[in-house]
Amino acid sequence: MNLSQRLTQPMLPRLTALSSLLFDDDWLDFALSKIDPVLSSSRIKARVLSRNLIADQMLLVTLEPNIHWHGFVPGQYVPLRVQIEGVWHERCYSPVSNPDHHKLQLVIKRHAHGRVSNWIHDHLREGDLVELGTAAGQFTLTKGESKPLLLIAGGSGITAIISLFEAALRQNPERSITLAYYAEHYGQMAFLETLQTLAATHQNAQLQLCVATEPRNDLDLQGRFSRQQLKGYCPDYARRICYVCGPAGLMQAVEHEYQQLNRMDQIYLEQFTLQHAPHSHHEKVRLNFARSQLQIESSQPTLLLAAESAGLKPKSACRMGICNTCSCTRISGKTRDLVTGLIDDTPQKVIRPCISEALSDVTLDL
Ligand SMILES: Cc1cc2nc3c(=O)[nH]c(=O)nc-3n(C[C@H](O)[C@H](O)[C@H](O)COP(=O)(O)OP(=O)(O)OC[C@H]3O[C@@H](n4cnc5c(N)ncnc54)[C@H](O)[C@@H]3O)c2cc1C
Ligand code: FES
Repeated sequence: MNLSQRLTQPMLPRLTALSSLLFDDDWLDFALSKIDPVLSSSRIKARVLSRNLIADQMLLVTLEPNIHWHGFVPGQYVPLRVQIEGVWHERCYSPVSNPDHHKLQLVIKRHAHGRVSNWIHDHLREGDLVELGTAAGQFTLTKGESKPLLLIAGGSGITAIISLFEAALRQNPERSITLAYYAEHYGQMAFLETLQTLAATHQNAQLQLCVATEPRNDLDLQGRFSRQQLKGYCPDYARRICYVCGPAGLMQAVEHEYQQLNRMDQIYLEQFTLQHAPHSHHEKVRLNFARSQLQIESSQPTLLLAAESAGLKPKSACRMGICNTCSCTRISGKTRDLVTGLIDDTPQKVIRPCISEALSDVTLDL
């Protein structure tokens, strides 16, 4: 925190309350930003303190939020807003920092063709400002629960999983926890040292690394998730509460195991991105964005991507059907919910365009 922040922040709530009687929020924000750009009457702004590449394509960004930031529960996600060429974009990231510390750390994996992750890797610099939303999400530990845990991470899913691992050990250092971490190769694994130290210093914590390439020792495993592999490193998985975060294929495979056991009440799943079917599977349909008075032909895999490709800027955050930020009315037409698979053509129905695929010509209230 710099000097002007240290002087202004403690007085800010009272100053803001007083000033809001006299001025509107935009004016106040403008005035505050002259003192320090991170100050705001109500918005959660954060300054980038540092950025470090911690594994292949994985960037650790440390942020110092202003006083409107009220923290997170390990496992939750935080909406991050950045301005790219004058347009605000929002994506969600699972914090990896200790929730008791004011500094917030996010790890952003670069996605091939991804708009925001690539921009963050290539353009976000120390000293820049970003905006945050309030932390949300149910992928958290159950209070008072002490049953053994099985934590499974794939790729960037380690962010939410390491947060749960550390939180569970802070709550109860004796808790029995097996953490399995899947990646293509070691270079893609973040936090290896931290994970190994935690496993070595907690008697009942166990770390299993699984790589698709040649393992570098006899303890690590090669290959993708399978029941046989799971039974090997965690024979009592049926009695464990399981948290999985990673690519769709890994999540489905683990979910299948708990389905077979009839133990779906013991598994929690968090997926970061929607698996889009290849373009060629999509037939062109006519989309009518009624409020914008715009019609296009589109074969985009989701209505959100179609709206964006047409130059519209609909609000979105998780882009996974979790947060409802993108919800809008489908005035007419038939769509498929890509998460549940449900097909529906009820007129005037609220849908989430980020997970909706058009199966006919569609009119949206956008
Ligand atoms: C709850 C939650 C927590 C998350 N936590 C993290 C985290 O801790 N770390 C992290 O790195 N990520 C996390 N994510 C994912 C993150 O929010 C972003 O989705 C990710 O950074 C990609 O954003 P992007 O803008 O780069 O990609 P986007 O531009 O949104 O694209 C997403 C993916 O879709 C593909 N795609 C885009 N357009 C098309 C198209 N027309 N046809 C086919 N495919 C297309 C892209 O290639 C890309 O792989 C989380 C997501 C959620 C929902
Ligand atoms: S953007 Fe979150 S539900 Fe669509």
